[in-house]
Amino acid sequence: MEQADRPTGAGGRLAGDPIRLSEGLDAAVAALRAGDLVILPTETVYGLAADAGRAEAVARIFEAKGRPRFNPLIAHVADTGAAEAIAVFDDAARALAAAFWPGPLTIVAPVRPGDRVCDLARAGLDSVAVRVPGHPVARALLQAFGGPVVAPSANRSGRPSPTTFADAMEETGSSAAAALDGGPCDVGVESTVVSVLDGRVTLLRPGAVTRDQIEALVGPLAESDHGHRSPGRLTLHYAPDAPVRIDAETAGEGEILLGFGPGSGDPRWNLSPSGDPREAAAKLFRLLREADREHPVGIAVAPVPMAGLGEAINDRLRRAAGFVG
Ligand code: TXA
Ligand code: MG
Repeated sequence: MEQADRPTGAGGRLAGDPIRLSEGLDAAVAALRAGDLVILPTETVYGLAADAGRAEAVARIFEAKGRPRFNPLIAHVADTGAAEAIAVFDDAARALAAAFWPGPLTIVAPVRPGDRVCDLARAGLDSVAVRVPGHPVARALLQAFGGPVVAPSANRSGRPSPTTFADAMEETGSSAAAALDGGPCDVGVESTVVSVLDGRVTLLRPGAVTRDQIEALVGPLAESDHGHRSPGRLTLHYAPDAPVRIDAETAGEGEILLGFGPGSGDPRWNLSPSGDPREAAAKLFRLLREADREHPVGIAVAPVPMAGLGEAINDRLRRAAGFVG
């Protein structure tokens, strides 16, 4: 890690020190606005946070986690009003929010049209995961920033979620431009994830809020169609309607070619004219969607090198092409 890349957030327990907290908050808000990443304490685990609306910042999160997969991320917001600005809530969602927010519950609901939470953060889905965290430092940051912040757990891929500032810094601190120390996490396991899609409440990830607590409020939970598999890893769920053909050099009759690198196909459909995998990640889901809307015979995608985020891009494309179950 370069000296200049070290996080600028103050160390120590910021929660007990208002002056240092406000300095750390200013640095964290500035980092989010600049499209940089922030180590963020929550009551469950530490998160690696970015402005939910900036696809290139979100791409950086996947890069920082290493061996990345484009799983959909949770949008953290300051209050229920801010949640309803990005997600469409039904009565069950409102009851859950009233009972458990601020706190360790995440609600997956239909996304409201708009660009507050970019396609990449939602992994191209029409739904969005939202939560109002209870940690005072997280709440202060969300209020000061004034928009949704996506934050997966701050661990590198395949490692346990960090529950102390030191662990979070060790995992992904070198990728963050600012870091907030909120002390050890009270809860220590991730938030419970429930979906309220299609008028059913379904438990997608067990967590800090228990099944019993949820059922006491909204009645018996529906069984998840996908068991405990992460939805981000399902193949067909995310595939466009048009067949996807990967490692294509040129478009066939009636196909749209998503290019990569200089001179690769129509510039409008190029994932990154300069050949930058981060830009390609940021545009991937949007271009797949836009191409699909044209009802082409198929979507051909130029080869994307495996370096950096290329691995995650290729993983997603192979799934879209139906090669990985
Ligand atoms: O406690 C937590 O939730 C922590 C702290 C930092 O807030 N965050 C966290 O994020 O655990 P992450 O990215 O590690 O887990 C997000 C979970 C994944 O299981 C993901 O599949 C699910 O939420 N998820 C997100 N959006 C979804 C969607 N639209 N549909 C279904 N599941 C979704
Ligand atoms: Mg995680």
